Amino acid sequence: MSEVRDSFKRISQMGFSDYFYNRLLTSDVKIRAMFHGTDFAKQKKALIDGVYVLIDYHEGGPLGKMSIRRLGEKHNRSHMNIPADLYEIWVDCFILTLSEKDPKFSASLELQWREVLKPGIDHMISNY
Ligand code: HEM
Repeated sequence: MSEVRDSFKRISQMGFSDYFYNRLLTSDVKIRAMFHGTDFAKQKKALIDGVYVLIDYHEGGPLGKMSIRRLGEKHNRSHMNIPADLYEIWVDCFILTLSEKDPKFSASLELQWREVLKPGIDHMISNY
């Protein structure tokens, strides 16, 4: 899905993470509380890496396979304790930010993004 990779190249170079976290943190008070004390300079870079993990996992690449398990573990009930319903909010914030920031956004690109994000996120949720 090179359209999704191209889209991510465009938006990750234009401060996408700032807009995304502003949106995510104001979407739900529970979520804001979870990020209390987070170092956002680090977290914004981690988000970019994390999205590349989801893209690579969808493509069946080696980075995705190795990293998705670790990412899932970090978010599971014994660690950051992120329940399944919050992933839906995460994806909606992601798509909304994308729709505002990617000049080439379209309904078809949105569908492709949702398709790419889903397997990795399902994997993370199934290991909650
Ligand atoms: C669905 C895709 C997601 C990706 C790709 C992702 C990615 C990441 C990455 C890469 C980290 C840093 C891990 C590390 O320190 O090694 C992280 C931390 C974190 N994530 Fe996620 N995440 C996702 C979903 C979520 C959701 C749905 C929530 C909650 C609404 C969430 C809340 C957090 C929190 C609270 C941290 C820790 C921040 C800190 O260190 O203070 N994540 N995430």
